[in-house]
Amino acid sequence: MIVVTAAGGQTGAAVVRALWSRGERVRALVGSSQPRPELTALSADVVATDLSNPAAVEPLLAGASALYLIWPNFDPEETAGAVALLDAAQRAGVGRVVYHSVLRPQARSMPHHAAKDRVEEALDAGGLTWRVLQPCAYADNLDGQVADVAATGTFRSPWGLEQAQSLVDLRDVAEAAAVLLTEDGLDGGTFEAAGPQPLTAPRIADLLGERLGREVRAVDAVPDGPVPDGYAARCSRLMFDHYRAHGFTGSPRVLEALLGRPARTFAEHLRDHELPGATGELR
Ligand SMILES: NC(=O)c1ccc[n+]([C@@H]2O[C@H](COP(=O)([O-])OP(=O)(O)OC[C@H]3O[C@@H](n4cnc5c(N)ncnc54)[C@H](OP(=O)(O)O)[C@@H]3O)[C@@H](O)[C@H]2O)c1
Repeated sequence: MIVVTAAGGQTGAAVVRALWSRGERVRALVGSSQPRPELTALSADVVATDLSNPAAVEPLLAGASALYLIWPNFDPEETAGAVALLDAAQRAGVGRVVYHSVLRPQARSMPHHAAKDRVEEALDAGGLTWRVLQPCAYADNLDGQVADVAATGTFRSPWGLEQAQSLVDLRDVAEAAAVLLTEDGLDGGTFEAAGPQPLTAPRIADLLGERLGREVRAVDAVPDGPVPDGYAARCSRLMFDHYRAHGFTGSPRVLEALLGRPARTFAEHLRDHELPGATGELR
C-alpha cells in the first residue's frame, strides 16, 4: 500500500490516478472529510487527517511500502510539518519516501522553495530511504485562465513577456512520481521534472490562439503595490517576481528518462484538455 498526502489537491489526485493505472493500492490522505468521488473512483482508501498532527498521521502510515509526501502549497509550516512527518514515517517503518519538491528549491528569493530545500536537507540527514521529485511549474496552472483568454483574446502574464517557463504537464509529473514510488534503483536520487520547451508568455499566447481558434495577445500583468505580508500572497508575488527576473526553465532529459518517452508539450496539454471555447486544431 502506498500513502499519498494532500491527495485532495491537484497534484495528489494526479498521483493517485497514476498509481491506480499501475494497479497499486493507495491510501489517500485528505484534509477534510467531505465526499471525494474523484479519489474513490480510483479505488483509493480515503482518510481525512490533519498533516500538521504527525501523531494522527503515523498510524495511517503503518504497513506502507511507500509514502508520497506532498505538502500543501504556500504553507508557512512546510519545513517543520514535513520533517515531523518524515520522523513519523520512520517510526511507522515506511519502506521508502518520495518527497514532492520543486525545481530549483535552493532559490532563496522564494520562501516556499527554500522551505522545500530544507526538507530535502532533512531527508538526506535522516535514516529513511528516499527519492525526490523536483517539478517545474505545471502547464495545468494555466487551465483556469483559458475561459478568460477565450473571451478576451488576452493572456495576462504576471511574469512579464521576456522570460520563459518549462511548463510540465501534471500527468507527466504524476507518472514520474509513480515510477519513483514503485521502481528499484532510484534511492537517494533527486529528479527534475521540467517540460520539453522553454515558453515565453507570447509563445503561450500563440499556442492558446491556435487551440482556441482566435488571435490571442500576451499582456504584461505587472503586479500592483508592495510585496504583501501574508505568507501565501507573499510567496506568490515573490515567485512571479523571480520568474520575471530569471524565468523558470530546466531540461526535460531527466523526466523523459524516468518516463521512457518524450515529455508532453504544452500544445499536447491543450489538445488533451477540454477547454471552454476551444475550436482550433493544434498541430
Ligand atoms: N503548481 C505547481 O506548478 C507546482 C510545481 C511544483 C511543485 N508544486 C508543489 O506541489 C505541492 C502541492 O500543490 P497543490 O496545488 O497540488 O496542492 P494544494 O491545492 O495547495 O493542497 C493540496 C491539498 O492539501 C490539503 N490540505 C491543506 N492543509 C492540510 C492539512 N493541514 N492537513 C491535510 N491536508 C491539508 C487540502 O486538502 P482538502 O481538499 O482535503 O482540504 C488541499 O486540497 C505544493 O507543495 C507545491 O508547492 C506545485
